[in-house]
Amino acid sequence: MQNLLIQISPIGRNVMPLIIKPGPCCQRFHRCFTTGRVSYSRLNAARQHFTRHKKLFPGLLSQVVRQSATAAEAAAPEISQKAQKIVGGWLLSCAGMCAGAVLLGGITRLTESGLSMVDWKLFKDMKPPRSQQEWEEEFEIYKQYPEYKYVAQEKGDMTLSEFKFIYYMEWGHRMWGRGVGLVFALPALYFLKKGWISKALKPRLAIYTALIGFQGFLGWYMVKSGLQEQPNSTDIPRVSQYRLASHLGSALLLYTLFLWNGLAHVLPPAQIPDFKQLARVRGMAHGLMAAVFVTALSGAFVAGLDAGLTYNSWPKMADRWIPDDLLAISPKWKNIFENATTVQFNHRYLAQGTVVLISAFWLMVRKYPLPIRARLAVNCLAGMAFIQATMGILTLLWYVPTHLAATHQSGSVVLLSMATWLALELRRLPK
Ligand code: HEM
Repeated sequence: MQNLLIQISPIGRNVMPLIIKPGPCCQRFHRCFTTGRVSYSRLNAARQHFTRHKKLFPGLLSQVVRQSATAAEAAAPEISQKAQKIVGGWLLSCAGMCAGAVLLGGITRLTESGLSMVDWKLFKDMKPPRSQQEWEEEFEIYKQYPEYKYVAQEKGDMTLSEFKFIYYMEWGHRMWGRGVGLVFALPALYFLKKGWISKALKPRLAIYTALIGFQGFLGWYMVKSGLQEQPNSTDIPRVSQYRLASHLGSALLLYTLFLWNGLAHVLPPAQIPDFKQLARVRGMAHGLMAAVFVTALSGAFVAGLDAGLTYNSWPKMADRWIPDDLLAISPKWKNIFENATTVQFNHRYLAQGTVVLISAFWLMVRKYPLPIRARLAVNCLAGMAFIQATMGILTLLWYVPTHLAATHQSGSVVLLSMATWLALELRRLPK
């Protein structure tokens, strides 16, 4: 039988010389590859072909899989493409649930509902009060805490129906959190049993489980800080900004991990033509992801200290580029986290810096031969950065209206998603 040398070079990068013994079943493969340059659909055809005739081509399958499949499939060629897509869809649903929890958490905070449930019980909390008597009992318990006392003093007595509203907001957020756990855990058990979870994904499932549990703990740890008596009776009872930032940061981390792995399961990696600056571009994409993450965390400090209400002008802070009271607290480092002026100042400049970096990146990569999806991700990231910054500025100028502040918070999740997607598109393929 005559040997046939075929060079497969998908989009020019990884040239793959293969020696193939043609048999009757190779006709289709031959037709696909005689041109040398092949598309993904053709690579997929080859992949299916090799899967069907494994015995004929020992050792060849993994090479073609690496060229044609998603990164997850390349790492676990023994798991079918369909199963990998289902696992990817599940991970993306978990990411969606996390994004929903962030949005709901933001609205809960902005409607000042977060301190209405004054204890935490995994199962008992799932049942809200039902009868009039149960509601009244719950309301009486809430009345003993500083938030009610402050509200009653500043705005007059709260009615039972007002209490029901804030209670349901907090209850909804807590139930959503449990929903994230269920949407993650039940399919995880099923997929593990079916053998659809690759070796690489298994330790990550353990990380997700730990992070989901930790998220619940942080949520309660944060609420607890808002239930303590304030040193001064005129102080607004609010949760610790450190705990708020940790709760938001850990939610964003969980979201990003779900999104990254979900996308890696459903998007076939594009072959990036080798160009000199590729390694730098990859590093910068990861840097942008980190910049968006840090900016979002600094936003949580603004939210935690109500620092959005200190200077409501832009671009200057009350006619000054650098306000006087930037270092009012001693020791100086505390200003970064505890001085509302400094916290707002930092968030502004971190955000503006992030927008400048994203714009510079967008300009820089225009001349590089990026695959189409990576190019789309860069464009979306740049567009979203401007939208997010505009929303932030308007949130300041309009004295933090709930709907805009909540949209601004969700915008940060969208921006982080764009940055994650971009970094994923530019990732190195598994060898
Ligand atoms: C890359 C751009 C930006 C990102 C990723 C971002 C992210 C965030 C996040 C995550 C929050 C916390 C929201 C919450 O926990 O409820 C926040 C709050 C805030 N941000 Fe930004 N932000 C950006 C740009 C800006 C800009 C340019 C300004 C104004 C100059 C701004 C002003 C504010 C204000 C006033 C708040 C407090 C809103 C509240 O109390 O709920 N942001 N930001």
